[in-house]
Amino acid sequence: MDDYSTRLLTPETWDAFATLVEANNGVWGGCWCMNFHPEGFGTTPSVSGNRAAKEAHTRAGTVHQMLVYAGEQCVGWCQFGSPVELPNIKNSRAYEKDAADLPDWRIGCIFTGSKHRGRGVARAAVEAVLVEIRAAGGGVVEAYPEQVEMRGPQRGAFFHTGPETLFEEFGFERDRKIAKWRWVMRLSLTP
Ligand SMILES: CC(C)(COP(=O)(O)OP(=O)(O)OC[C@H]1O[C@@H](n2cnc3c(N)ncnc32)[C@H](O)[C@@H]1OP(=O)(O)O)[C@@H](O)C(=O)NCCC(=O)NCCS
Repeated sequence: MDDYSTRLLTPETWDAFATLVEANNGVWGGCWCMNFHPEGFGTTPSVSGNRAAKEAHTRAGTVHQMLVYAGEQCVGWCQFGSPVELPNIKNSRAYEKDAADLPDWRIGCIFTGSKHRGRGVARAAVEAVLVEIRAAGGGVVEAYPEQVEMRGPQRGAFFHTGPETLFEEFGFERDRKIAKWRWVMRLSLTP
């Protein structure tokens, strides 16, 4: 595994983040990792609008996102935040149907640059997020990953909320199923 460092997305690290997104066509055709945020893709989605909205969140301090660096290059990230900060999860109707209580934290989108996959970037990102959450007081953390077992090999592109196996490594457990291949997984972190 390569040697990585991690930094939060802030106005100081914005350029490194933006360089990675631009090198990957805006990610998902230009979402700029906006979908979990309150405005989602907005009422009139556009790549430049998504970019501006993400930058505005970064400058306002309304985003939590752990960036992974190989040297000085940002090669991936893991988004996290409170349910207020990240209200838009996929399969929300199924999610809400059996939701007993909201978590303290959510893990949103995970992304590794296409040339850096399969070398532990996502693992480094999730590990650093959990350290950060613990330092902030801990609590219940939810992730919404895709099931890996009992289906054929999937390209990384299908795992924008991460593969289930990655979260199992950190002790997350299945809470409930919200789509054919998507689970709510939970982990309780003490400070
Ligand atoms: C899914 C994704 C984040 C994985 O990132 P990565 O840095 O390659 O993952 P890692 O190397 O840290 O892998 C950690 C573990 O996750 C699992 N994993 C990773 N990619 C996988 C895949 N394609 N299929 C099954 N399991 C996978 C494995 O258990 C792996 O451990 P192992 O290598 O010991 O088997 C990456 O493929 C990606 O970015 N896909 C695009 C997602 C996207 O579009 N996000 C948009 C967000 S806005």
